[in-house]
Amino acid sequence: MRFAEITGWGKCLPPAVLTNADLSQLVDTSDDWITTRTGIKERRISHVPTSELAAVASWQALAAAGRSPAEVDFILLATCTPDTLLPSAASNLQAQLGASRAGVLDVNAACSGFVYALVVGTQLVRAGAYSRVLVVGAERLTYWIDYTDRATCVLFGDGAGAVLLEPSDQPAGVIASELGSDGTAAGILEVPASGSNFSHLKSREDPAAFGIRMDGPEVFRRAVAAMADSAMRALAQAGLRLEDVDLLIPHQANARIMDATARRLGLEPAKVMVNIESYGNTSAATVPIALTEALENQRVTPGANLVMVAFGGGLSWAAAVVRWGQRTLPLQTSDATLPPFGGSALDLIQPNLEFFSGASSAPFRR
Ligand code: ACO
Repeated sequence: MRFAEITGWGKCLPPAVLTNADLSQLVDTSDDWITTRTGIKERRISHVPTSELAAVASWQALAAAGRSPAEVDFILLATCTPDTLLPSAASNLQAQLGASRAGVLDVNAACSGFVYALVVGTQLVRAGAYSRVLVVGAERLTYWIDYTDRATCVLFGDGAGAVLLEPSDQPAGVIASELGSDGTAAGILEVPASGSNFSHLKSREDPAAFGIRMDGPEVFRRAVAAMADSAMRALAQAGLRLEDVDLLIPHQANARIMDATARRLGLEPAKVMVNIESYGNTSAATVPIALTEALENQRVTPGANLVMVAFGGGLSWAAAVVRWGQRTLPLQTSDATLPPFGGSALDLIQPNLEFFSGASSAPFRR
């Protein structure tokens, strides 16, 4: 049987750091509130478009697999913050990599996007349609953040992670999965003025419609139930029990959501990968960044059973049981980096502040 093994992995975090102390200068909040309610200490703000974050993570994933862009057959880029709607961010990524043979596609399932794309990419490889599929999660979510709204601005950050899938005759890669959505409840998490439903005049009347709006407690409740239940169903499909799980890699939305999910599953905290304190919620990028850091920290062993699970806008959810292969070290490393940036995170979010506080009426460019 043909499987789709993860043979390369990588991440990219932009250098500018926005701390809880910075945020408490902007809105009525505190390091203590943010830390105890979310687990987040700091997050990164990107000075480059989403596709450039994706490219650095991709170069690392390709190097880890010992492959070149010319060998990539397909690129799936999970993002809800593409550089532009047209072209797709995946097209821009392809151009930057020089992956001229690859078919390309953006996947928008919000925070669940990477796990969705991983499952779709796995099927492309397993069906024999393509051999080397690059799956990326990359976001510049902070573009859409209203830094006058304390309920949302403390949560989000920017970043990217990537993996390469290649065929294997060993049972490796995604061995079971569940993808789901409840579109009837999509309104509890949205950016209302972000698409063709958007009146061009509306940004002047209602700048807040241009930012992320959510019913936080309701998202919280649904996230815990959907992540725990879909993980259980995917494990059952794989014929595995909870005791067989070596590491849970959940979407990093809130430390309390991850704790509650692990409790509902009956999984001990030591088996949960958490790095939200450093990056906040980077939407589709959290799972591949966390996977990469789990490998860097030797938390993934040969043949390990991993469970990746996510929840996000849509309302979407996704769970994948991943059997790791034999190799946990990169074959090579890449020296690809982002262009340097000399300013601060506060400089980068200044246009958001002007727009959402009504001081500037035009949608801003960063
Ligand atoms: N600092 C201080 N106080 C705050 C802050 C803040 N940053 N934010 C909210 N509060 C206040 C509220 O105003 C409220 O005050 P009140 O009691 O006087 O009315 C109080 O804190 C409690 O507010 P809740 O919203 O009930 O707080 P909760 O404990 O639920 O935490 C949070 C809020 C962190 C947003 C939580 O609900 C959460 O993480 N929800 C999930 C959000 C999420 O994961 N979204 C991801 C989707 S992103 C995607 O899919 C692209």
